[in-house]
Amino acid sequence: MMLSFCHRLIPNYVCVCFNQPLRFRASGFPRNSLKLSSRQLGMQKSEGAKRLGNQTSDKFKETIHGDPEGGWEKCWEQGLTPWDLKQPTPVILHLQQTDALPRGRALVPGCGTGYDVVAIASPDRYVVGLEISSHAVKKAKELFSSSPNANYFTFLMADFFTWKPTELFDLVYDYTFFCAIEPSMRPAWASRIQDYLKPDGELITLMFPISDHVGGPPYKVSVADYEEVLHPMGFKAISIVDNELAIGPRKGREKLGRWKRSPKLSML
Ligand SMILES: C[S@@+](CC[C@H](N)C(=O)[O-])C[C@H]1O[C@@H](n2cnc3c(N)ncnc32)[C@H](O)[C@@H]1O
Repeated sequence: MMLSFCHRLIPNYVCVCFNQPLRFRASGFPRNSLKLSSRQLGMQKSEGAKRLGNQTSDKFKETIHGDPEGGWEKCWEQGLTPWDLKQPTPVILHLQQTDALPRGRALVPGCGTGYDVVAIASPDRYVVGLEISSHAVKKAKELFSSSPNANYFTFLMADFFTWKPTELFDLVYDYTFFCAIEPSMRPAWASRIQDYLKPDGELITLMFPISDHVGGPPYKVSVADYEEVLHPMGFKAISIVDNELAIGPRKGREKLGRWKRSPKLSML
């Protein structure tokens, strides 16, 4: 609520990181006012938190760009993980709880600490969380190996772009992986998704951040960016909706897309 309010009032914001979307001009605050409303105080407090978040985000980007080969591992080693919600993503939990996800085998590429992997794992759905970082995998295993549903998921350390699974998947769920990779890798991302899914499998993309900022990660995304790489692979959106359950700072910048391959197109 507060963010969308600010969004409208203060036009020159920059979207800089996963959780701290707005950086305000100092002039956005009343300089000479002695009495600040509690709302204004609240904004000042959260400004401090935002600055800290922005510093982490800047350090994260420096680390990623400083070592394109091992940048993710270094970020995990140094705790530079500004995207990590430390809880399941509300909308995927909601889909799981309302039985609105395909059953069978699911893949979560770039799963981080794996909250979403565990959230959707069940006797009806075996979930593979794939991660390039050994630190992330270790952390995910430490957090979740004694979960009551631990028989229904696994964490694997592998590069999404070169991994060779032994079995195909009924569902691939991508959240904050598409926006984390270099935009030049997006065609390869779509090609791997096609390789990993069964012909009638479903891809669910929680598209974020829908914005017009420059640079990354996270790199900006749009529905058209997904269509550009998925259409040539024969995928069509079966639904695209705003994510009403996005967490506060991401509200208004997420859409949930569900994609399937059209049998006709994939035979072309
Ligand atoms: C922005 S984080 C998102 C993590 C998780 N999806 C979340 O929302 O918390 C992107 C993750 O992708 C992982 N990653 C980056 N490149 C990868 C690759 N080629 N294969 C597998 N994982 C990769 C990183 O280590 C990082 O944990």
